[in-house]
Amino acid sequence: MTDHQQLPHDKGLDHTLELLKEGYYFIMNRADKFDSRIFETRLLGEKAICLVGKEEAKLFYDNEKFKRKNAAPGRIQKTLFGKGGVQGLDDVEHRHRKAMFMTLMTDDLLGEIRSLTQEEWRQHLSENKSDVNIYKAAKHVLTRIALRWTGVPFQKKEADQWTEELSDLFEHAADVGPKHWKARWSRQRAEGWLEDLVQQVRKDKVEVDKNRPLYQFSMHKDLNGKLLKPYIVAVELLNLLRPIVAIAVYIDFAVLAMHDYPGEVKRIREGNGRQFIQEVRRFYPFFPFTTARVKRDFLWNDFEFKKGTLTLLDLYGTNHDPVIWEEPNQFNPERFNNWKESPFDFIPQGGGEFDIGHRCAGEWITIDILNETVNYFSKISFDFPDQDFSYSMNEIPSLPQSNIIITNVQT
Ligand code: HEM
Repeated sequence: MTDHQQLPHDKGLDHTLELLKEGYYFIMNRADKFDSRIFETRLLGEKAICLVGKEEAKLFYDNEKFKRKNAAPGRIQKTLFGKGGVQGLDDVEHRHRKAMFMTLMTDDLLGEIRSLTQEEWRQHLSENKSDVNIYKAAKHVLTRIALRWTGVPFQKKEADQWTEELSDLFEHAADVGPKHWKARWSRQRAEGWLEDLVQQVRKDKVEVDKNRPLYQFSMHKDLNGKLLKPYIVAVELLNLLRPIVAIAVYIDFAVLAMHDYPGEVKRIREGNGRQFIQEVRRFYPFFPFTTARVKRDFLWNDFEFKKGTLTLLDLYGTNHDPVIWEEPNQFNPERFNNWKESPFDFIPQGGGEFDIGHRCAGEWITIDILNETVNYFSKISFDFPDQDFSYSMNEIPSLPQSNIIITNVQT
């Protein structure tokens, strides 16, 4: 007799191939099959516990029970995250590093990112009016915003190369083969270039704005009062630059939603942009899940968690959980009108607290950039030519097949 319940579990040696095939539905499919919000499977050759739902998210973000060290697969670290960054830190070291990010989120710096968003979209669409590929345009606009906001100097002609390198990091992280290697190469180049820049900032060889992330991160001291190693600063600067460009994925889906739900455009113009973009972040696929490891043995609801076990929290599934959301598969921004916020139920960018947990440091930036963008797009006019608006549920990141093309843009 054991004093705990057996976790429902997937039979078989490994389910990584099913994960790739079922994509965003992998965890929900099994949660439904087992009629359980928690179950065990095997992924990448090891045992993994999967969680979906609000109470389960609360458990996942308990720092006493889970840690992040060695939780992300190596190939993701070598492309998406980089090594030694905030994502893989725990406890006091994590809190200290996270504060470096969160102190940037002042009214002034957020206000500035909103102004840059308006300025860059105006500029871009004044020069490009026919056959605008929204995804590509957004990546271009966001690269310029990211570089200007962080204070990383660049020449106009260098912006395209930055766009390509930063995009490689999030577009090909989950790929295998040449695209994955290209992403690794892009990371090495970008890190190397930023490392040199950090050394120049420290030696006062380049003129920089002291309020901006480039300077702030370059001069940040760790818990022992020492400056961070230049490559760590580079990794953390990329933790700002890369995801700002990745907001292009949400922008593409936001414009798709304007096409699919044309009545929403008027509602955005009437001041409901925020509800619209919250629903975009809830409804469309982006980050499927996030990972941690069990910090020490414990029991939860009579289920046993063994130290070191890989654990996945289903972000997409929790955002579509029928226990939390009425008609979760309907696109309905009005659900956010009287929405009672909880850190654990609406988690497209992770859950829990910003300062003590791993919730996305850039969630406010994402919301502000999206809000400015959809407001701007709701006020200009354009047409949607015939195109393939469908998107896959097992590509990460997923995007509409056509990237969304608009024509006859009148600003
Ligand atoms: C493009 C839309 C974005 C999505 C979908 C997204 C999603 C996420 C997710 C799922 C996490 C992990 C949460 C966890 O493991 O618990 C995360 C963490 C993080 N994000 Fe974002 N993010 C986005 C934009 C941004 C932006 C714009 C920035 C910075 C400007 C940013 C910076 C970070 C950082 C630094 C972390 C690590 C936080 C930590 O480990 O404490 N993200 N993000």
